[in-house]
Amino acid sequence: MKISGIGSSLPKQVVTNQMLAEILDTSDEWITTRTGIKERRVLSSEYVVDLGVDAAKKALADANMEPKDLDFVICANVVNEYVTPALSCIIKEKIGAKCPCIDLNGACVGFIYACDIAEAYYKIGRVKNVLVVCAEAPAHMLDWHDRTCAVLFGAGAGAAVLTPGDNIITTRLTSSDGWDRLYEMHDLQWCPYDTKGKTNLPLVMHGQDVFRFATSTCVNDLNVVLKEANLTADQIDTYFIHQANLRIIKYIEQMLGQPAEKFPTNIEKYGNTSSASLPILLDETKHAGKLHEGDILAFSAFGAGLVSGAMIMKW
Ligand code: ACO
Repeated sequence: MKISGIGSSLPKQVVTNQMLAEILDTSDEWITTRTGIKERRVLSSEYVVDLGVDAAKKALADANMEPKDLDFVICANVVNEYVTPALSCIIKEKIGAKCPCIDLNGACVGFIYACDIAEAYYKIGRVKNVLVVCAEAPAHMLDWHDRTCAVLFGAGAGAAVLTPGDNIITTRLTSSDGWDRLYEMHDLQWCPYDTKGKTNLPLVMHGQDVFRFATSTCVNDLNVVLKEANLTADQIDTYFIHQANLRIIKYIEQMLGQPAEKFPTNIEKYGNTSSASLPILLDETKHAGKLHEGDILAFSAFGAGLVSGAMIMKW
């Protein structure tokens, strides 16, 4: 398969580091130097589904495709307004598509997982046109009093229209032990007759452990897919790395011995938008005129699970 259209959508409300410093014991200087983030977007009048619909419509327009021509909608999402139905069902209906749809929770690796599942459907001849939507609002999981997590995340959505082609060169998906390094759970109050007392507990993250996991797995995953593709790091034109922390991206640059120009970033504007991070970055890079037909692109992401993935494709 190949990517024939791409789109993204961000909430209107900007929250700067300075705004957070007014409500939390933090500072622009700490957040900027430790993470590279200057501001993020949060939901105000919109819902996660609205971002997904908007990104999907833009991707369809970019691919010059009608929703009725879609054969499958895959939505990557960690948390949204509904437990059921799947976010993909709502997005499918709102854009006017008439095809099967499913959600997957691959945390920040959701885009790579969704592309890999779609690729499998192409290989067995089940689909012609697939829409992947990654729509996220990690702030739904946050305790805004917790400075260690609250400063890191932002909402956003990215979408890609996939069509037949042979542009995926190789993909690697992995999982590692350490689910309790990054999790959010329900407060399960034991009562057989009343489940209304259930509430969500905020995200718990052991930042340094996740940092160590991210740096080692990304470098390893990229080296493995480069080897599988019979390519050297120099032969990759652009690296799309999950936008979680600029220091992680800089580490990967160094370990691969590649120049910063090959690593576009937008973490400074949006923070960590989970699975939406890669398609938003791809959309912005494409629409800035920085991708050329035939370019070789590498993608790498990591997230809660702990899961990771990398993919090499021809543009
Ligand atoms: N403002 C000011 N001080 C802070 C803040 C803050 N926002 N957050 C933490 N601190 C303090 C800590 O309390 C600590 O203080 P102490 O030394 O007095 O104890 C000090 O800063 C250093 O804290 P560390 O945790 O050591 O800081 P570190 O340099 O490791 O940065 C960070 C923390 C940014 C979270 C980093 O570990 C990181 O990016 N980890 C990876 C996170 C990630 O990538 N998650 C992606 C997956 S997300 C997903 O899948 C949903």
